[in-house]
Amino acid sequence: MCGIVAYLGREDAYPVLIKGLKRLEYRGYDSAGVALLNDGEISLHKCKGKVSDLESHVGVPNVAGSVGIGHTRWATHGPPNDVNAHPHLSGKGDLAIIHNGIIENYNTLKEELINRGHHFESETDTEVLAHLIEEVRSNTDTSLFEAVRISLNEVVGAYAIVVMDKNNPDQLIAAKKSSPLVIGIGEDGTYYVGSDATPIVEYTKNVVYMEDEEVALLDRTKGLKIVTIQNREKTPYIQELELHLEALEKGGYDYFMLKEIYEQPRSIRDCFRGRISLQKGMVRLSGIEVHEEKWINAKRIIIVGCGTSWHAGLVGEYLFEDLARIPVEVEYASEFRYRNPVINSDDIVIAISQSGETADTLAAIQLAKSKGAHIFGVCNVVGSTISRETDSGCYTHAGPEIGVASTKAFTAQVTVLTLMALAVAQKRNAISAERLHRLIVEISSLPDKVQTALESNKMVEHISGIYKDARNALYLGRGYTFPVALEGALKLKEISYIHAEGYPAAEMKHGPIALIDEEMPVFVIATHGQSYEKVVSNIQEVKARKGKIIAIVTAGEQHVLTLADHIIEIPKTDDALVPIVSVIPLQLLSYHIALMRGCNVDQPRNLAKSVTVE
Ligand code: F6R
Repeated sequence: MCGIVAYLGREDAYPVLIKGLKRLEYRGYDSAGVALLNDGEISLHKCKGKVSDLESHVGVPNVAGSVGIGHTRWATHGPPNDVNAHPHLSGKGDLAIIHNGIIENYNTLKEELINRGHHFESETDTEVLAHLIEEVRSNTDTSLFEAVRISLNEVVGAYAIVVMDKNNPDQLIAAKKSSPLVIGIGEDGTYYVGSDATPIVEYTKNVVYMEDEEVALLDRTKGLKIVTIQNREKTPYIQELELHLEALEKGGYDYFMLKEIYEQPRSIRDCFRGRISLQKGMVRLSGIEVHEEKWINAKRIIIVGCGTSWHAGLVGEYLFEDLARIPVEVEYASEFRYRNPVINSDDIVIAISQSGETADTLAAIQLAKSKGAHIFGVCNVVGSTISRETDSGCYTHAGPEIGVASTKAFTAQVTVLTLMALAVAQKRNAISAERLHRLIVEISSLPDKVQTALESNKMVEHISGIYKDARNALYLGRGYTFPVALEGALKLKEISYIHAEGYPAAEMKHGPIALIDEEMPVFVIATHGQSYEKVVSNIQEVKARKGKIIAIVTAGEQHVLTLADHIIEIPKTDDALVPIVSVIPLQLLSYHIALMRGCNVDQPRNLAKSVTVE
């Protein structure tokens, strides 16, 4: 959370920073700010609100300077207001700093600094860092690069920072620990810095992903130098960026979320392309093949993730147990990391994360690693921290997901987990050739089936109009579709602010049924398959209490038609793949309801896409 961007070059920095901040706004939008260096003066512009508010605040862009830093904030320390907005200045005003992360010992550092005569403007942990660096520099009479390095040895917590010095227009200093930071290397001593590569991609494809506890000196003439905070010199590893600018645009849609929902036929195809072979009846994933023995001998799989990724993990549990016959536990990463979990060396931990930066998931990985488990990552963002921390993995290839509510990332994660379960099932001889072949055929038809499910949009919009003012909603599913019920409920609450709960349909009678009255919309996934008859009985129970039933059914369904208030048809597919198709109308439903309620679909309140704090 929080997005940071910086520029050191020959052009005006302001447009580069603003464009970069707009790309990073998914990381937080409580406040925004820039600092530019021109003629030995730092001009600081910051305010509460979004990047567009910052632009209005700045007015006609009269902000010159070819060096600058910018920040979009998701508030942790101190409420979202103008003063707490970044950048922050040091005590004498010589340095300006932007920061993503949390300085855990900031209170101790702040008290010590106050005792030594420092005065602070804001309530942030970041301002403490600016003062500390300035003090270290003046006490040790050293370079800013060295002062940042020394200061960071005193810091406990997470940081991605960029520091700008009023007296040195030829340098920027960047550093990171636990929060992501990418350096873009342009022509003629031009540098770009971003929390991810999106602010950089249109200027250069040459990037360096910084590692934890590294400090980088970006110098117009001397080039790029990287050392660790322990002062060990590192050779920058320059990689070519695999990211296309078009993927970051709305492409004619009003919202990123809608674009991303509609991209799913393509993103699912990209996800399985080259990994399944209809002719050979095989699934091949190199991330599994390199550690084949581990998978063949695995006694247990533990899946960790947060939010939507955790829901994908729940589908993974059904898949691995059903297809590969390996016991699975699915854990919230945030709980797992603080328990004392029993982890054995023949366990495999699968970490699922769209962003690849989620702090809790990263910490869960580190814990499992320390106990000797094999760690497998399922990430979307290429080069992300989690993808680099894991022993092996599989990218979802969904392309950049910018809408804060996860949509195409979920279906891609479930697709990857299906492929993984099948690849492992083959290796363990746990699946018949016939079932394997049938599932491969079904996977290859998923893009068409998802496309057909998208055609329910008009009907979903109509239903959304009827229930847009509901205060509560229930989502029910069973077996493979129970996690879909959870995901449907999460989508509705996070973007439309309607209270919604997902339940296994049969659990309803153990409590939630008390909530049902004629006001309560109940969304039920009642597709043909193993649990169909049981779910129909659950629908009867809702109907008996006058609840409003909106059922997601298999095309051609007759029986539920007579019971439900509304039905939404989706194409028939295998039980194991129903989550991917049945979630589509639920994504559309939350999109329409949120829009009708006047909510910001892409940037729901209080949220950020990449949760890099605990
Ligand atoms: C919900 C949503 C969040 C994320 C969660 C994990 O729509 O987007 O619940 O799924 O914050 O994020 P990643 O997958 O990046 O680890």
